[in-house]
Amino acid sequence: MSTNEKRQAGEAAIRYVEDGAIVGVGTGSTVAYFIDALADLKDRIQGAVSSSEQSTAHLKRVGIPVLDLNSTGSLSLYIDGADECDPHKRLIKGGGAALTREKIIAEASDKFVCIIDSSKLVNVLGKFPLPIEVIPMARSLVGREIVKRGGNPVWRDGVVTDNGNWVIDVHGWQITDPVGLENDLNQIPGIVTVGLFARRAANVVLVGDKVL
Ligand code: 5RP
Repeated sequence: MSTNEKRQAGEAAIRYVEDGAIVGVGTGSTVAYFIDALADLKDRIQGAVSSSEQSTAHLKRVGIPVLDLNSTGSLSLYIDGADECDPHKRLIKGGGAALTREKIIAEASDKFVCIIDSSKLVNVLGKFPLPIEVIPMARSLVGREIVKRGGNPVWRDGVVTDNGNWVIDVHGWQITDPVGLENDLNQIPGIVTVGLFARRAANVVLVGDKVL
């Protein structure tokens, strides 16, 4: 993990922000650098749609208006980090438990620019345990379904998402068909969001200040 590359990526993402934009903003330590850089442009943008209470607090602290996605309509740009990124720009996200709102904003955005350091690059997704947000009463059911599929589910005990749900981290999967797995898991009742961003992958990946 390179803090320097995270800072470079967060600052490099600024070049995608157009005057008058409403920017979708993800969550995490790399995004924190982006928010700090965005603060310098705050008079040139309308505001941001935030993916977490953590990012909302940061955006407000630096004076960027936080807008409601239901009022803004679709967005031109979403900036967010990731836990893993494969050569097709498919991602694992949710290490910070913000995956549901992140996936909503990614879906609502024309362009998703993912900002990472080089430690996040992998050939096959799955070394980083796959986060899944679940309705609390479905935790055991979802766990059993994951075991049937060869995964090892571990409850992120003590973590409650911004939506009041729980997170299961799945260890032991080599995800060779990310779209297929995402579609399959999306059918299990009680799963709110799978931290695979494969159906809607990133459009651009910045590794430090370099475009992948
Ligand atoms: C939060 C996320 C983050 O984007 C991911 O965990 C990467 O975080 P960081 O930039 O701190 O390494 O998905 O839910």
